[in-house]
Parts: sequence; C-alpha cells; structure tokens
Amino acid sequence: MADRIRVLIVDDILETRDHLAKLLGFESDVDVVGMAPSGEEAIAQATKLLPDVILMDINMPDMDGITATERLSSQVPTAGVVMMSVQGEADYLRRSMLAGAREFLVKPFSSDELTASIRQVYSREKEEAGRAVVTAAARNAGSAELGTVVAVFSPKGGVGRTTIAVNLAVVSVTELNKKVVLVDGSFQFGDVAVLLNLDPKDKSMFELVSNLEAGGDADAVETYTVTHSSGVRVILAPPSPEMADVITSTGVKRVVEALRQRYELVVIDCAAWFNDITLGILDLADIVLVVLTLEMTSIKNIRLFLEVAETLGYQDKIRLVLNRADTTLGIRLADVEHSIGRKVDNTIVSDGRAVVYALNRGVPFVLSNREAQVSQDVLRLATAVTGNRQSSEDDRKATQKGKSLFARR
Ligand SMILES: Nc1ncnc2c1ncn2[C@@H]1O[C@H](COP(=O)(O)OP(=O)(O)OP(=O)(O)O)[C@@H](O)[C@H]1O
Ligand SMILES: [Mg+2]
Repeated sequence: MADRIRVLIVDDILETRDHLAKLLGFESDVDVVGMAPSGEEAIAQATKLLPDVILMDINMPDMDGITATERLSSQVPTAGVVMMSVQGEADYLRRSMLAGAREFLVKPFSSDELTASIRQVYSREKEEAGRAVVTAAARNAGSAELGTVVAVFSPKGGVGRTTIAVNLAVVSVTELNKKVVLVDGSFQFGDVAVLLNLDPKDKSMFELVSNLEAGGDADAVETYTVTHSSGVRVILAPPSPEMADVITSTGVKRVVEALRQRYELVVIDCAAWFNDITLGILDLADIVLVVLTLEMTSIKNIRLFLEVAETLGYQDKIRLVLNRADTTLGIRLADVEHSIGRKVDNTIVSDGRAVVYALNRGVPFVLSNREAQVSQDVLRLATAVTGNRQSSEDDRKATQKGKSLFARR
C-alpha cells in the first residue's frame, strides 16, 4: 500500500477547517487525521496522532501559529509544518521559518497549491529522516572508513581561510595524530603551496582531475598528493590560473569522495565565491568552517551567506570561526552575533608577528610557534572538528534548537 500523508489541520475558524478537510478529501494520498481549533489543542493532538504534516494558521487567539510551531519543532519534530497566513509579508515568512515551518501559504490559495505544499513538505521530511538514519548508521558502523570533510569557506576574501586551513591540517597531524589531506580549493590563485613551501611540479588538482576524466581510477588519488614535512598530504592548486578551467565540479566531487575514504580528515581551503565547484564542496562537507573578521563588509557578507546557507540546508554543519578576534576596531562580538543571529563557535586571535613570520618562512605557525595563543586557538578548533566531533555537533544542535529552516527547493 502506498504511504498516505497524515495531515492535522489547525485553524480557529470552523468553516476554514471544514473547507480544508473537504479539499483534501479529494486527494487519494492524503488522510486528514485530526483538526484542532487552537495552538494548545494542536500540540496535544500532534503528540498523540503524530501527523506527517500540520497545516497551521498563523493568527489564532491564545497561542498563535508561530509559538505552536516552535513548540512542535521540539516536541513532535517528525511533523512538518505548513504555515497559512492572510498576510504575505516577508517578516511573517521569516518568523515562520525561524520557528521551524517548512512552507508558507498565503490565503486564499488554490487546492493545487495546498496539496503541492503538503506533498513537498512530506517528501522532504522523509528524505531528511532517511539521511539521518544513513548518517547515524555510517557513523556507528562504518565511521572507521569515512573521514570528516571540513570545508573552510568565507563569502569574502582575505579573512584568513588559507591561514586557518593550513594550520588546522598541520596541527591535526602533529598534535592529534590524524591522517590528514589538505586540498587547495582556490584553483586559480591558491596559496597553500606558498604557506607550506611546497613545489607543485606536475602534481596538482589539474593533473588529478584530468586523469580521472580520462577514465583514471580514483585509487590513483594518493599519487597526486605532495607530502609536507609535518606528514600532511596536500593536493595543490594548478600551477597556472588557466588550468583551473579544466577542473569541473564533478571531478572535484569524485576527488573528495575518494579522499574521505582514505583519510580521517579532509580539509579544503575553498575559494571565496559561489560557483558550482564551491557548492559541490559545501554539499559534500560534514563541517563548513565559515571564517569572518570584525569588519562591516565581512559581517554583511556572512549575514547574506547564512541566509543562502539556510535555504541550501547547510545550517547544521556550519561553524562560525571569528579570525583576528581581538582586533575589534570598534565592533563588539556581541553586536556581530546579534546582527547575524547566531553565536560564533570558535575564535582565533590576531598575531601578526607569528603569522607573517610563518608565512615568510613557509613554516606553519603551529610548528614554528607552537605555544603562541594563535596556535592554541587553532588546536582548539582542530579538537572541535575532529576529536569531539559528536559533542560539538550536539552543542550546536542545542543552540540551534527551533531553528530548522526551509530545506532546499
Ligand atoms: N590570526 C591572524 N593574525 C594575523 N594575521 C592574520 C591572521 N589570519 C590571517 N592573517 C593574515 O591575513 C592575510 C589574509 O590571510 P589568508 O591569505 O589566510 O586569507 P584568505 O581568506 O585565504 O585570503 P584569499 O581570499 O586571498 O584566499 C594574510 O596576510 C595573513 O597572514
Ligand atoms: Mg586563501
């Protein structure tokens, strides 16, 4: 028997409830399992009936739809909420999303719009539940085989992505004994070779992807890595910018998939702009370190990025890393957090001397200046993304509670 979608209707007006129930009565894949006239009653019924989808009116006396949705997202997380409103303003939409609604319908809507929304929310919830089971199973059973992919990204250049990616990769080998590969994902103007004082010769992402596209085996991936004296394996950016054109998103994804089967940690220093390659990497990543600094332009771009990240379903894997955290220049951390609507997960101090000295010598500061605060900060970040992966995820989930937003359309 095909799955039928179990729907709970919540609206304070009796005629509206009846009308919606009648409309849905024509659909062969939908079952209206209950109707509630208030937010309180909705929570009581949803807890008992465990519907797949809840049609929720936004304006109700007593408890409004937004409050009810917030409660439901923690009490009955398996139910997807479709919010209904006579007002279509952005603020209503935003508040509904933040409360955990998955869809937003502006009254009056057609029966086609209604059923399309219900089906979409239902299939998304099922997809997510499936993914959660697969991920949990992979973690429990096969976690030994699949490494953690960490993408280091920022929507603005020059904020310290390469500095952080390189030192994170190195310290994970030297202090945490992980098997690590670092990928320079800035294919046109990659700086990893300079920071690690490596000579690309004929080993780079260009040769690797060209080989794969010519039918080469993914097993060959290791032969395209260059080994740094710390033990980090590195896949460098092509030696000249025009070679970057040959690198496709599919090629990069195959490389990352191959690497995560062979290394415990895959660190990718991403480019600072959105294209299909960056998106492909962010999609595959288990953790996205979003680097920001205390500058207005950086903060503005982070805010915009976080909005996009939410629609792409990345919000649970993002960790915000504030670089040069102690150079405030009049902007306070608390204001930034307020402005972007979430907490910074890690901070790294500014240390011009250690960083520039390391850069000029081609020796990462976690090696040349191990005791410095900046090195300790990177070590703490490495511990969070490797050793304590589970607990840091739990922490984030706790702070994120009630913030499940629209999934990808
Ligand atoms: N914590 C820090 N303390 C002092 N200087 C830093 C710190 N982090 C980065 N820098 C300096 O800031 C500059 C930019 O850093 P980096 O190249 O790592 O940024 P990026 O985001 O990778 O830039 P790009 O967009 O060019 O790839 C460099 O000169 C670097 O030495
Ligand atoms: Mg860089």
